[in-house]
Amino acid sequence: MAGVDKKGDANLYYDNGQDSLSKGGSTGQREATKKEGHEVTEMPDIGDRYMVQRADKSWHAAEIIQTRTNEQDKPEFYVHYDGFNRRLDEWVEIDRFDLGSKHEDTSSKMKDVSILMTDLSDGTDRKITRNQKRKHDEINHVQKTYAEMDPTTAALEKEHEAITKVKYIDKIQIGKYEIDTWYFSPYPEEYGKVSKLWVCEYCLKYMRLERSYRYHQSQCIYRHPQGREIYRKGTISVFEVDGKESKMYCQNLCLVAKLFLDHKTLYFDVEPFLFYVLVEVDRHGCHLVGYFSKEKESPDGNNIACILILPPFQRKGYGKFLIAFSYELSKLESTVGSPEKPLSDLGKLSYRSYWSWVLLEILRDFRGTLSIKDLSEMTSITQSDIISTLQSLNMVKYWKGQHVICVTPKLVEEHLKSAQYKRPILTVDPSCLRWEPPVKVPKVSKK
Ligand code: ACO
Ligand code: ZN
Repeated sequence: MAGVDKKGDANLYYDNGQDSLSKGGSTGQREATKKEGHEVTEMPDIGDRYMVQRADKSWHAAEIIQTRTNEQDKPEFYVHYDGFNRRLDEWVEIDRFDLGSKHEDTSSKMKDVSILMTDLSDGTDRKITRNQKRKHDEINHVQKTYAEMDPTTAALEKEHEAITKVKYIDKIQIGKYEIDTWYFSPYPEEYGKVSKLWVCEYCLKYMRLERSYRYHQSQCIYRHPQGREIYRKGTISVFEVDGKESKMYCQNLCLVAKLFLDHKTLYFDVEPFLFYVLVEVDRHGCHLVGYFSKEKESPDGNNIACILILPPFQRKGYGKFLIAFSYELSKLESTVGSPEKPLSDLGKLSYRSYWSWVLLEILRDFRGTLSIKDLSEMTSITQSDIISTLQSLNMVKYWKGQHVICVTPKLVEEHLKSAQYKRPILTVDPSCLRWEPPVKVPKVSKK
């Protein structure tokens, strides 16, 4: 970084987009471009490590995972930032590299730069608060090192990373939204390598060309998810879609979802699942907002397998709406439920916020004694999720082998004023829910 003119770098190595990389970015030809009057500098290669600048202007140690030549015939490098969620992996051009930083011990630099640096775009020095920093760390720095994992997890994690290392589909167009993708998704080979995919917002068919997409729009017969509408209030609807009855739709939904989920592996085996699809309704049709999937029979007692809100709709309360919805279904089933693990960083935040709110709402108004079992029966939240939430609120003690709720009105009052208590923007109105639990046919054991 020191002494390197970031903006000027690119011109030292390339002239009008000419570069020394072959098409497709194969590895053998990373000879530096020699320009008159400039030093010969080695081209970055797969496996090399440099300091790289992220879009927020902060510098981070990064490893090059893959290379390619973009449509403007310029080389691009797919980089992973040390210690950051893979969602932030991205294709960058050479001007985002500190080319002098190769092979350096970047750990000392990291200390200075791993905090979000000021965004200079508005010309002001905006300092982040400790709270923002904590939240930022919590959200993005979730990657454990292999050494911190048990051997089986480490082996599975390595395999997962090898298969899903590079995300080729950078964007999808779905309805009126063009959305930057976050992770790899296993679309068929011929679709998986285009940088933009066009997806019909109604039937979720995917196409490589805008032309095909436009034609499909004029032909598609669907205007809502391929299932039964079980909830409608105002402009919000939820449809229940059976993975067995609408297999293609559900597979397409999982492929879209994988673009925003790192660790879920369900794409094609959709038959054992029900999908609860959240849409915003207007006079044109039902526009996809998000969904959750749920196993028809869950041996682990999960009431959500995967949950997704499409990025343009995130942070508007839809995630917690669907979480609340999943617990309303569990209440009607007279059972308790928990989300499938592992939770993503954003999943954890959403659940923690939902659980804290539900429990504080009850504790605020309740007079008398209440056990963890009572809370679980009232909310359909499992006892272990209740305990971990109360622990984070400092409201539980371990006493003679049992967890006991320890709450004073003052403590509740403090939490109600704190950041952990957030009244949801959207709530589920149970009177608008038209749903009964499916009748479970008991398994007959053969004698
Ligand atoms: N940065 C900081 N906080 C965030 C962010 C973010 N990017 N996104 C959500 N949050 C917080 C919100 O502030 C809110 O907490 P608060 O009300 O206490 O402030 C809470 O998380 C939930 O906010 P919502 O607006 O209700 O949630 P949203 O609509 O954004 O959906 C979801 C949350 C579904 C996790 C969404 O982020 C998503 O789809 N992420 C990608 C897929 C994913 O990670 N799914 C969960 C996987 S785990 C599983 O499937 C069981
Ligand atoms: Zn369609």
